[in-house]
Amino acid sequence: MEVLGGLESGQLLLIAVGVAILGYTYTILSNPLARLPGPWYTLWTETILKYNVVRGQRPQWVHSLHEKYGTVVRITPKEVSIQDPNAVQQMYQIKGEFLKSQFYEVFLPGNKNVFSTTDVNYHRRHRKLLASEISESGLAVHRPTVDDKVRMAIEGMAEEMEKRGATDVYRWSLYMATDVIGELSFGSSFRMLESREETQYTRDLKLIAFAGGLRSTFPFLMKVTKYVPLPVLSIGTQIRERIRVYATQALSRHYKIVEEQGRNAKPTLLSKLYRATEDDKDMLPFDELREDAMAYIAAGSDTTTNTLTYLIWTLCKHPDIKAKLLAELNTLPDGFTDLDLKKLPYLDHVIQETLRLHSAAPSGLPRVVPQGGATLAGHFIPGGYTVSAQAYSMHRNPAVYPEPLKFDPSRWENPTRAMKDAFVPFGGGSRICLGLHLAKMELRLATARLFTRFPNATVSHLEGFTDEDMVPIMFFLMKPKSQRCLIDAH
Ligand code: HEM
Repeated sequence: MEVLGGLESGQLLLIAVGVAILGYTYTILSNPLARLPGPWYTLWTETILKYNVVRGQRPQWVHSLHEKYGTVVRITPKEVSIQDPNAVQQMYQIKGEFLKSQFYEVFLPGNKNVFSTTDVNYHRRHRKLLASEISESGLAVHRPTVDDKVRMAIEGMAEEMEKRGATDVYRWSLYMATDVIGELSFGSSFRMLESREETQYTRDLKLIAFAGGLRSTFPFLMKVTKYVPLPVLSIGTQIRERIRVYATQALSRHYKIVEEQGRNAKPTLLSKLYRATEDDKDMLPFDELREDAMAYIAAGSDTTTNTLTYLIWTLCKHPDIKAKLLAELNTLPDGFTDLDLKKLPYLDHVIQETLRLHSAAPSGLPRVVPQGGATLAGHFIPGGYTVSAQAYSMHRNPAVYPEPLKFDPSRWENPTRAMKDAFVPFGGGSRICLGLHLAKMELRLATARLFTRFPNATVSHLEGFTDEDMVPIMFFLMKPKSQRCLIDAH
């Protein structure tokens, strides 16, 4: 059949396909990110990145690209990863902000919270209501509570060592961090240190970052799970719903305490936020309070747990470093408190080095380049594109940290400007971790109490435990792949 100027329909179809391919190729090649270093396929597809997210290997994969292509690398047709200390300061600055990308709202869908919101005004309002209670001075009132939880965890470890021949410091760290954030936020904890049992709650906490990572990577599939059950993905929705219930229950307990004790009730990390719901419900509805409570529960337990676990394990594997720390701990007065620990330089260097080499949040923290674009590490990136820096690569840059894979606390004795700029375990700028002072307090107290109690601590090989168990798996947050870490002190 003749159709147009003697061309047959088959030929027309071929021409149409050819034009479509040319058009598509032109669109791809005219992408401004085409000029940036990176493997050819990252210009065409996000598939390889997504594949590595699902494997829990995104940071390692992005890092391998930095090793091959340098400090600026295209990782998808729309996103660039940066490994440069000056550029990272520019991306996570407070003024002229690079806003959080949509990744976060998909990571934590439903109602937004102080961590996930991309709305500047919402964030400012919430952060202002939360900041003073969790600041270094605001936390002073909570020091004894944190110390109590640490001591309970150490007691639990001692008992377990007696009975089992080793203790799982991952488990005790999780119980400790969970009870600390519960007690400080709601005035009553989840009592993990007392019940000492794996519950649905702790199982959910362990999986929350995995679920969030999957959601952000496959937003389309998440919509489909509403209609077609996809077990792996719908698990994330179920966890989130359960955490919402935990937060509601914890807040109800908190309301009860406040009702009984009035304004004499012990302040909590959420006190100001709580008062804002009481005094002016229009300013802060209950739902918004509950969502921030959920953010605290999720952000405040897994991160500290994993950092502490890697710190203890690493020191048990490096007797020389442990001995140096013990010598410093020996100078402490009897009945020392966190105020004494803050004065110990080597303890601080050990914590810094753990945060560097075993960053609990190793993945890229995506930000949108503002209108007008930005030049980062010598490369112009137009407005609207996504840039991210990942602690995993920032902290392994050999130009900044010589012998980056070596655990060497003494490198922090005289840190260079580049070392300080490149150090981003808590993110940066206006979205820097709200809980960093609390996390550091927990890390100081737990490290000092554990090693003064068990100076002979070593890695245990009970029940087939080996270094292989500690290989990290990275779903936005990082954890040891078998979620256990056995040590012994006999
Ligand atoms: C060693 C432990 C911790 C690490 C490594 C860590 C890491 C981080 C990082 C990297 C961010 C920035 C995320 C981004 O920009 O996308 C962040 C934000 C946040 N963290 Fe932490 N965190 C830790 C402990 C805590 C604790 C104990 C809390 C307790 C409440 C907490 C609460 C938060 C909150 C609320 C945010 C959001 C801040 C905002 O967007 O304004 N974190 N954390």
